[in-house]
Amino acid sequence: MAGFTLHKLHDSFGAEIRGLDLSAPMDPETCEAVTQAWLDHLILLFRDQDLTPEAQRKFCEQFGPLGGRLRKAEDRPEGRDAENIMLVTNVRKNGVPIGSLPDGEMFFHHDKCYAPEPDWGTMLYAMEVTRVGGHTLFANMYDAWETLPNDLKDRIEGRQVLHIYKYLPTERVDLKEDIDKYDHQWQPIVITHPKTGRRALYVNELMSAMIEGYEEDESREIIDRLVENVKSADVIYDHKWQRGDLVMWDNWCTMHARTDFPRDQTRMLRRYTISGQALSA
Ligand code: OGA
Ligand code: MN
Repeated sequence: MAGFTLHKLHDSFGAEIRGLDLSAPMDPETCEAVTQAWLDHLILLFRDQDLTPEAQRKFCEQFGPLGGRLRKAEDRPEGRDAENIMLVTNVRKNGVPIGSLPDGEMFFHHDKCYAPEPDWGTMLYAMEVTRVGGHTLFANMYDAWETLPNDLKDRIEGRQVLHIYKYLPTERVDLKEDIDKYDHQWQPIVITHPKTGRRALYVNELMSAMIEGYEEDESREIIDRLVENVKSADVIYDHKWQRGDLVMWDNWCTMHARTDFPRDQTRMLRRYTISGQALSA
């Protein structure tokens, strides 16, 4: 047996793994067992980790090549040095955020769904956390698809959805804008997970802008109904961060959001991603 134990986080999905020090390389059997646990449970939590950037990067690379950044270096707050690493933080220097996604609430989204090859995984490591708020919410999109009413399934089955990202946490694109200004990509609205073969709903609150084959109003109404359905189904795990937590999530079968938090409390997480591939229906 691989030297760790599994503890479920939510009835629907998510597991905490205890007994591993992520700063040490995993042997091949452990790596395989963790990968299988990740595919089975969708998100994994490891508590009380002590990780340098280098150690976190090495842990990440055991699952595949690092994901890159789509956003141009000169547009990123932290500038050119950060091709793979991202600081998710509200810390500011001379009033300017030193990282990305600084403040407050963020709507539900899938990382990189607006790219041709969405990243498989994202890993966030908590270095400083707020006393209140700033939770990350995760939704199980396999269950979200399975529990969808049949009439809704019929309205979307086999269609494509357009994802657009303005790099703003709670602002969707207005389709009257010139969308070529923003990163955007058509994707199947229900994808087949490349590694598990299971079907997952691939629509989210922040980035999904339009469903193929509908007028704008009807398409918006369907997207809103889909999102409401996910929110009201019992498929959401609410993660309250502790310093030293590392959470890794699967971007193909989960989406995530962030709850609001006070501006005067420091929040700092370090993020790497695992690259992905094109997704099909
Ligand atoms: C992210 C993200 C949420 C958070 O890093 O992709 O959405 O809780 N972060 O900061
Ligand atoms: Mn995200």
